[in-house]
Amino acid sequence: MKRKLLNECVLRFPALSRNESISRSAAAAFAAQCDPAAADIAAVKIAVSEAVTNAVVHAYRDKPAEEKGIVEMTMRLYEGALLKIIIKDKGRGISDIDRAMKPEFTTAPENEERSGLGFTVMQSFMDSVKVRSTEGKGTSVTLEKQLSTYEDEK
Ligand SMILES: Nc1ncnc2c1ncn2[C@@H]1O[C@H](COP(=O)(O)OP(=O)(O)OP(=O)(O)O)[C@@H](O)[C@H]1O
Ligand SMILES: [Mg+2]
Repeated sequence: MKRKLLNECVLRFPALSRNESISRSAAAAFAAQCDPAAADIAAVKIAVSEAVTNAVVHAYRDKPAEEKGIVEMTMRLYEGALLKIIIKDKGRGISDIDRAMKPEFTTAPENEERSGLGFTVMQSFMDSVKVRSTEGKGTSVTLEKQLSTYEDEK
């Protein structure tokens, strides 16, 4: 059965690293509206951070800071404390999604010291992570989590 949408917020920002903490805090504030367990908020922050960092680091890699493209984060809360967050960019895209999601796969140059674990981290903290991407057109990452609320315990 389709769950009723209770609330939706959209945050748009250029792909700059200073926006990582802003988007992380926004996601935490959005999740907090249904009074979830603190561990759930922490999990959401970690997963959002990884997804937004990917858009910042990889999507517009060849563009200088003043020409970085836009990242759009859509946060949705459904009845029963189901949280969905979509992080979308219009950057270079991913040629092989399955390969990109494998632990320790990275296309970052060695001097950046990336471990290739971002998707693995997202998967471990969320119930589902769906990636759609078209080369040259962009990427969208959909994070989903059933939050546990104090309501559940009543
Ligand atoms: N938004 C994106 N646009 C283009 N490529 C992406 C995007 N997100 C991920 N990728 C590709 O997927 C690969 C794997 O991403 P992942 O987050 O797992 O590792 P990483 O970012 O390379 O390293 P880490 O997250 O550990 O710092 C990246 O190296 C990059 O090639
Ligand atoms: Mg990453």
